Amino acid sequence: MATGSAPPDALLSLDPETLARESRAVINLIAGYYRDVEKYPVKSDAVPGCLRTLLPDAAPENGEPMDLILEHVRRHIVPGLTHWQSPNFFAYYPVNASAAGFAGEMLSAGLNIVPFSWVASPAATELENVVVDWMGKLIGLPASFLFSGGGGGVLQGSTCEAVVCTLAAARDRALRRLGGHEAITRLVVYASDQSHSTFQKGARIVGIPSSNFRVIRTWAASTYGVTAESVREAVEADVASGLVPMYVCATVGTTGVGAVDPVRDLGELARRHGIWLHVDAAYAGGAMICPEFQDYMDGAELADSVSMNPHKWFLTNMDCCCLWVASPDVLTSALSSNPEYLNNISQERAAAGPAAVDYKDWQIALSRPFRAIKLWVVLRPYGAAGMRAYIRRHVEMAKWFEQALQADERFEVAAPRKFSLVCFRLRPRYDEGDEAVEELNRKLLVAINASGRAFMTHFVVDNKFVIRMAVGGAMTEMRHVRDAWELVREKAKEIGHVPNDSAGHY
Ligand SMILES: Cc1ncc(COP(=O)(O)O)c(C=O)c1O
Repeated sequence: MATGSAPPDALLSLDPETLARESRAVINLIAGYYRDVEKYPVKSDAVPGCLRTLLPDAAPENGEPMDLILEHVRRHIVPGLTHWQSPNFFAYYPVNASAAGFAGEMLSAGLNIVPFSWVASPAATELENVVVDWMGKLIGLPASFLFSGGGGGVLQGSTCEAVVCTLAAARDRALRRLGGHEAITRLVVYASDQSHSTFQKGARIVGIPSSNFRVIRTWAASTYGVTAESVREAVEADVASGLVPMYVCATVGTTGVGAVDPVRDLGELARRHGIWLHVDAAYAGGAMICPEFQDYMDGAELADSVSMNPHKWFLTNMDCCCLWVASPDVLTSALSSNPEYLNNISQERAAAGPAAVDYKDWQIALSRPFRAIKLWVVLRPYGAAGMRAYIRRHVEMAKWFEQALQADERFEVAAPRKFSLVCFRLRPRYDEGDEAVEELNRKLLVAINASGRAFMTHFVVDNKFVIRMAVGGAMTEMRHVRDAWELVREKAKEIGHVPNDSAGHY
């Protein structure tokens, strides 16, 4: 190219006509996928390396047509997926999708702005301020977590990120009180043996010595919620040996069995000792839109932060985690940065006034997608009433499954059901040792999943291997739950779990 000549228009990658045509083709593919998703084996049986044999070993030198690419998605990619949106997906905690969630995600991807500061996209930040307040009100959070009440919220990608941010805020608050960074080796974090592993990982990331992470034992007697009494004992022992309790987590809806920690009791303990209390309601937070579940969050006004994932059980496509804090300043003083390359906007920022939020200071990353538009688009067409009905339907389906188990003496419900997760196992027969029971339940789970007709996962609680049936898929109806129950019974029979005697005794 000669000096000064214009570069050729080699690639007009955002030509609106092409965008409209290709996007329609993608939408048709996705709609077809949802039409057929029930027919696919839920859990993929792909083997490592399977795509290497099907795809070229380098990216194409010359462009390829979208039709061909989408054909390869159908032929090579879809068959190797585990189908999280299948109505027969009962594993982990399902993640939700919806027409509105998809529309919101399209708007986010299509507008493709980066609202890291107020100035970088004012309406996106303003919408996020509004939508986190909407969400907080819907799930019954105390006003102190809303922007309108002096707190505030942010939309992050995952609970794991949100937890790291709260740990950093709690650490800095404690270190300020203790007068210097050297005290970091004295800070202690408390979680239960049912808390998500992210707390341990997060504590490590923010520099808490791993020997200062306390895992408090839970028991069947407290339905696997931690008791404030056992946390108190650990806290007092630490204080007596010169350590500084810094952070405690209360989970509402634990990952393994859906247990609930006593938020108020932990909050009172936390307040007495100046400990940061985080409420993790990643999954069950969605259920808090129903008044009948809101008691599980009783005492939330004593917490410093609360998080939940609309992408789990609130019809919002991946990813979306709401994090609220009672004192935004404590969070932002731990996370803010003001590099020179952002200074060109600082005057406009100053003109925007103190109420303008810079979300870069509320999270780890600088760049961030426009999640607020997605959640806003989800909340409007379904409304609070629609969302309540959605949640209650799942809970009722789980209740039905639980009752079916209780009526069949081969099975036992292994932990009390509070929301839409049912944990169960084949009951030991009178001559059966722990290992034999575990082996039998493992076999049952393998047989269920190998059938391709459902996908469930397991947990180990009180040394018992239990199967988790997590109802929560957007496409799951009663007939799928009934089919899952039939499948469980059929496979239990096939693996030979029969009564000890002809009278049917166990
Ligand atoms: C109670 C709880 N906390 C945290 C997480 C982690 O959430 P994320 O994947 O958004 O980081 C989960 C995931 O299932 C969870 O159940």
